[in-house]
Amino acid sequence: MQEITFDDVRHDENIRVLVDNANHCLEMIGYTDHGPRHVGYVSKIAGEILRKLSMPQRRIELARIAGWVHDIGNMINRKHHGLNGAVMLFPILCDLGMSVTESSEICSAVGSHEEETGNPVSDISAALIIADKVDAHRARVRLKKYDMNDIHDRVNFAIQETNLTVVDNTITIEYTMDAHASPMDFLSIYLTRMQMCEKSAKFLGCKFALYINDVKLNRWDDPDDV
Ligand SMILES: [Fe+2]
Ligand SMILES: [Fe+2]
Repeated sequence: MQEITFDDVRHDENIRVLVDNANHCLEMIGYTDHGPRHVGYVSKIAGEILRKLSMPQRRIELARIAGWVHDIGNMINRKHHGLNGAVMLFPILCDLGMSVTESSEICSAVGSHEEETGNPVSDISAALIIADKVDAHRARVRLKKYDMNDIHDRVNFAIQETNLTVVDNTITIEYTMDAHASPMDFLSIYLTRMQMCEKSAKFLGCKFALYINDVKLNRWDDPDDV
């Protein structure tokens, strides 16, 4: 059986429609961008995390595929979009020619990425969670609909730079924010997501470090790190 690649999935017309429709539904209820920019970023970063951890090439490819399709369940409803997306995807991926084993790996990762119901269940899943949860950036704000009273818009608009690195088994995310929002604003909406990143990094045998404007906001289990 021919292995399905990231490009096969990204260029599939049916999946393109699902990604666009999910993004449109979220736009209608005032959410930040969840379209090709977001899923493209998540694909790239999820693959990068596994590549830096020297995982096999096929695991990297599956993480990239999971990143591209992880949010399609939003076309059903925001609530439980991970679960809905996973159930929708299984036959779609099998029909594309992906093996049942790999399709189930993708669906497990997609179904485990939401804050309310998610937990890392595999290397692909852990990389997907981290890549998804760290994607906060000005580019996610829908500028025509920018609402300064919406804390998600303000926090994302304030983030001018997002930089993720994986060095010596430490996954570090650094945000550069301007005065449109404070680190406290960031934490008020991103705290559980950052905690999910910590848990996912630990699943991968790594530490997770969070910096905003050069200040470290979390600690890890390292007695020398005081
Ligand atoms: Fe999601
Ligand atoms: Fe997402």
